[in-house]
Amino acid sequence: MEETAKIILDGKTYEFPVITGTENEKAIDITQLRAETSYITLDNGFANTGSCTSSITFLDGEKGVLRYRGIPIEQIAEKSTFVETSYLLIYGKLPTQDQLKKFAQSFTKHAPLHDDMLNFFNGYPKDGHPMGLLSAMVCSLSGYYPDLLKPELTDEEFESTAAQLLSKVRTISAYTYKKSIGQPMVPPREDLRYIANFLNMMFTTPQKEYEITNEVIQALEALLILHADHEQNCSTSTVRLVGSSWANMFASVSAGVSALWGPLHGGANQKVVEMLEDIQEAGGDIQKFLNKAKDPNDNYRLMGFGHRVYKNFDPRAKIIKKRASDLFNKLGVNDPLLEIAVKLEEAVLKDDYFAQRKLYPNVDFYSGIIYKAIGIPTVMFPVLFAIGRMPGWIAHWKEMKENPKSRIGRPRQVYVGPNERNYIPIDQR
Ligand code: ACO
Repeated sequence: MEETAKIILDGKTYEFPVITGTENEKAIDITQLRAETSYITLDNGFANTGSCTSSITFLDGEKGVLRYRGIPIEQIAEKSTFVETSYLLIYGKLPTQDQLKKFAQSFTKHAPLHDDMLNFFNGYPKDGHPMGLLSAMVCSLSGYYPDLLKPELTDEEFESTAAQLLSKVRTISAYTYKKSIGQPMVPPREDLRYIANFLNMMFTTPQKEYEITNEVIQALEALLILHADHEQNCSTSTVRLVGSSWANMFASVSAGVSALWGPLHGGANQKVVEMLEDIQEAGGDIQKFLNKAKDPNDNYRLMGFGHRVYKNFDPRAKIIKKRASDLFNKLGVNDPLLEIAVKLEEAVLKDDYFAQRKLYPNVDFYSGIIYKAIGIPTVMFPVLFAIGRMPGWIAHWKEMKENPKSRIGRPRQVYVGPNERNYIPIDQR
């Protein structure tokens, strides 16, 4: 018999279907709730609300499970590449050799920016935050591809748009960095693969070609893979919401970049390193910062701890923690901030306040330290997150567009403002 949920309102019982996901996740389908009862639900921060069905990423926050298209993140991080992972997320299956080759070649083709776009960089303040520039530049791509803005794209047009975004986000990011330090831009190279190409554009200077090492590529590869998707997080939900109005993919993804910028989301990795530097400046007094974070009258939070979904451990943090120590051993990095990070983590894990609230290190706690070791400046950390999250945003935009049940996203509200009252002319107030 079909499972249902009963809601009793004003003495009347209403029944709603219960739907079950492939991993036995249960949801009450309230699509008809308002039509049948005139009630709505109130759910601040959408913590209990499923906005869609999705077959891209599964995560179980209690058990610390994360899978892309069914494949455990641990296997993907160890064996795959970021480009292959992007294909998996977007198209739902692992590519064949030929499919992967074609996919990677489309990145090479789309890596350069239109010459006119280079002028945009010159108009942006040198010290402006790179996420502002990235968001603007991603949206500006729409101006150069008017054929790709219509609500329904052919398969070929979708592939082209996706490749433009995946490839150009890397070029834009590197150019943003070069602009901020007043160095000439280094164009993408056809002979370099995705990550090596990015590192070369970031770090080659007029004086010296960047020496690409396997250790750095592997660390960055793992970070991008671990950030590639995380189901209905703030930025991905934003991309879906904007796309639900049939806005084009450039505009939708650009909104995702803006959502990611916030320190409670993708901006956290930058804030983690700033927090560790603050602790260092305060003479390493970790307890002082712990007390501040625990003080109910202080809004201060320990950056890199806590997660809306993971209430046991963040599986990505586990993988990254190991990668960080491997990288530091190989590169011989001896960063005092790392020592502070280790001590802070130990102190947090022993503290009742954090244990009771199930606050564990999240992916951003370690990613910032790796970026720092690679030589990426703190202000660019959220940009790296955006490069990593791009395939996830694209996959969700595609899934949303292909679902015949998708409707424009338009939540309701419970109005708590004044009742009707008359307008009073300004001279009588
Ligand atoms: N430091 C101190 N206290 C915290 C922290 C923290 N990092 N995170 C949550 N809390 C406390 C809250 O004050 C609250 O305490 P209370 O019950 O006494 O009021 C309780 O834990 C629950 O917090 P919420 O804000 O309700 O948790 P929510 O699920 O809404 O927020 C979030 C999750 C935003 C990640 C939060 O834990 C946070 O701000 N963390 C720091 C920022 C961060 O690291 N963000 C990156 C997230 S991962 C990512 O985006 C890839």
